[in-house]
Amino acid sequence: MGIKIESPILALSKKIKTGSAVIGVIGLGYVGLPLALEIVNKGFEVIGFDKDNEKISKLKSGVSYIADMSNAIIEKAIYEENLEPTNDFAKLAHVDVIIICVPTPTTADGAPNISYIVDAANAIEQNMSPNTLIILESTTYPGTTEKVVQPILEKGNFVIGKNIFLAYSPERVDPGNLNFSVSNTPKVVGGITAACLEVSKLFYEKVINTNVFAVTSPNVAEMEKLLENTFRQINIALVNELSQICHKMDIDVWEVIEAASTKPYGFMPFTPGPGVGGHCIPVDPKYLLWAGQQHGISATLIEAADKINDSMPNFVVERLENYLHAQEKEINEAEIVVIGITYKPNINDFRESPALHVIRELKEKQCDLKVIDPFIRTFSVDNDIFNTVSLTRELIQKADAVVILTNHTTIDYSLIDQHAALIFDTRNTQYLFKNENYYKL
Ligand SMILES: NC(=O)c1ccc[n+]([C@@H]2O[C@H](COP(=O)([O-])OP(=O)(O)OC[C@H]3O[C@@H](n4cnc5c(N)ncnc54)[C@H](O)[C@@H]3O)[C@@H](O)[C@H]2O)c1
Repeated sequence: MGIKIESPILALSKKIKTGSAVIGVIGLGYVGLPLALEIVNKGFEVIGFDKDNEKISKLKSGVSYIADMSNAIIEKAIYEENLEPTNDFAKLAHVDVIIICVPTPTTADGAPNISYIVDAANAIEQNMSPNTLIILESTTYPGTTEKVVQPILEKGNFVIGKNIFLAYSPERVDPGNLNFSVSNTPKVVGGITAACLEVSKLFYEKVINTNVFAVTSPNVAEMEKLLENTFRQINIALVNELSQICHKMDIDVWEVIEAASTKPYGFMPFTPGPGVGGHCIPVDPKYLLWAGQQHGISATLIEAADKINDSMPNFVVERLENYLHAQEKEINEAEIVVIGITYKPNINDFRESPALHVIRELKEKQCDLKVIDPFIRTFSVDNDIFNTVSLTRELIQKADAVVILTNHTTIDYSLIDQHAALIFDTRNTQYLFKNENYYKL
């Protein structure tokens, strides 16, 4: 009897099924790190790759840089389980499945910047071994996997679907969400070939969760992610616009939304706020807008939504100015305490946060600013560096106004309620304020 040689897909599937596959995660940020921890937790050996040496050394010494992830979880993964953080991309040669979770920002003129994906794909091409499955999870425009990543991976002797496999699966993690994580959120996946789909579906079912929805191509998977986030961007813009109309008509927008939410079908509540932030909602619709433009479509709805969301910081500052004015205080003489810098509560991510725009406008108005955010120590707006301060009774008593821009749950709202001269709550914080100068967005 001759020696039986297993096909690449069979060999890789067997490793995934038996748990002996080594998993590589490229980009250990808000997406990649929780994913790496989830996989290591399932008993797999994981090598986490990042170019940021500070992140690598923090992880190696068991220190977390993500607010809702404790040091204990990192320590367990590094010292007791099998997570190896590294900046040595040669180790990609030892990996069976590679997941790319690098950033996808926009350029200064709003076009997609996929240079991090290109870098990661080049590093993979230079180092990988045969029989590897590569999955792109970074959010991007349709065609990236097939037209950008595939040609890079096939520069040498590898052929997708034969001796390596390529798929796209959007990441849906929602930082700070206590109910949904990667392990209980359905995955969507699209492969370049049928074999790519088969092995990537197997990987997610075995390693992440059993609820995997297969689509016919990476293009569909890439587009559905843009739909998810553009859906949010547009609906947030709708309630933001509604809040501006309601304010003029002296109607409580929050009560309107609560009432509309009683409809059991055909309505889904979204909440207004000082704008949109984070790496997804302000960015991903621009990828869709750009993709449309490449095909002669001007996505006017997306542009209009962007404009409305971008107008919210100014709406907030104008309203604050009016409330101060009513108390015979000019904004340029006012001492203002800002609560919250991050783009949503209970996380430490302030990328693209609307709070930064509000602060920029308040700075331009020359008011005296103090910023409180238990999740952030320091941040900058333009060239000004801000150090956050602690919430004290003295600080609140001295201030002319308190503006709540992020509704962190650890803030002592009763202290603010008791001692503030004026409160402007842009998030409808779930605290029953009794202050007679309390205003909601
Ligand atoms: N943050 C979210 O909530 C979220 C949710 C869903 C999807 N996404 C998408 O996931 C992707 C990653 O987002 P994120 O928030 O985790 O970004 P992030 O900036 O937090 O993390 C990305 C990491 O990749 C590293 N990196 C950059 N280039 C690299 C390279 N060539 N090789 C290795 N490491 C590299 C960076 O140092 C960083 O640590 C983006 O496409 C984003 O749109 C993000």
